[in-house]
Amino acid sequence: MQQELIDLKNQALAEVSDAQSEDALEQLSTRYLGRKGLLTGLLRKTGTLPPEERPAFGQLANQVKKELEQALSQASERLSSAGRGTASRRGVDPTLPGIRPRRGRLHPITQTERLILEVFNRMGFQVVETPEVELDWYCFEALNMPPDHPARDMQDTFYISDQVVLRTHTSSAQIRTMEKEKPPLRIVCPGKAFRRDSDATHTPMFHQVEGLMVGEDITFAEYKGVLINFVHQIFGPEVPVRFRPSFFPFTEPSAEVDIGCVVCKGDGCRVCSHTGWLEILGSGMVDPNVFKNVGYDPDKVTGFAFGMGIERIAMLRWGIDDLRMFYDNDLRFIRQF
Ligand code: DAH
Repeated sequence: MQQELIDLKNQALAEVSDAQSEDALEQLSTRYLGRKGLLTGLLRKTGTLPPEERPAFGQLANQVKKELEQALSQASERLSSAGRGTASRRGVDPTLPGIRPRRGRLHPITQTERLILEVFNRMGFQVVETPEVELDWYCFEALNMPPDHPARDMQDTFYISDQVVLRTHTSSAQIRTMEKEKPPLRIVCPGKAFRRDSDATHTPMFHQVEGLMVGEDITFAEYKGVLINFVHQIFGPEVPVRFRPSFFPFTEPSAEVDIGCVVCKGDGCRVCSHTGWLEILGSGMVDPNVFKNVGYDPDKVTGFAFGMGIERIAMLRWGIDDLRMFYDNDLRFIRQF
């Protein structure tokens, strides 16, 4: 029976070294070492041997089993390392040209935001960012909009709770900054704003840049000068600018700034509703009540503030007529900028 065992081993080792695939090895493993395998079968016959021969036979059988297992695992390694170079086995063809990743670029809203900030940076304004989820105080109350103020209706608000809102404008940044810093101040505050509104000219989330300049003798002349300079830097030095009287609770007097229509150059067209003018921002001299709310003395300091929609500036720069294009994630659109 010992001889039988040795013959079995030699046969098995020969077959293992001939095996050409993992599948074949798997089959050999079952054929010899499986529950009904040949080696297992031989081992079961140990009991038929005379008792004094059993230990030696058992030892030899174990050794054969070990050798066979080792041969199988070495063969498996040999096959898999050879396979690594054989792409077809893995379904990969390394000779195919790769797919070139598309190069990213800045979204037109980001580009426009950066341009606006850069223009104000050159005039000495520093960038400040404040929270999007805001307390009623910063978004409304301190900006001279008490709870029953009709101007709150102008901005249909997303409420988180009674006192917490998604800011409807970046004007909240004025209050946050003035509460922390002493005048003089020159800041621009970019960021997201949110209103319950959705159509071709409104999205529930949009971007604004708020601006504020406060000091001991900031006059209406500075206010006009800074904003006219801004418009000329963005839209070109020939573009006409006008300050049209308006109302905001946090400024007095207030004005909206219009530029001559960039499409018809003032003749009147659909884009400017045949007025020849396009509104680009809200602004005014800071209301004394706002200064009082942040602990500034309105008899000592004056200032002006302004706020603009970045989407609107971007649309006018590039002649885009549907605001939703910015957020459809259509690369054919985005890639043009
Ligand atoms: N917060 C206003 C809005 O969202 C824009 C605005 C108007 C900001 C006048 C100002 C300002 O700072 O003085 O429509």
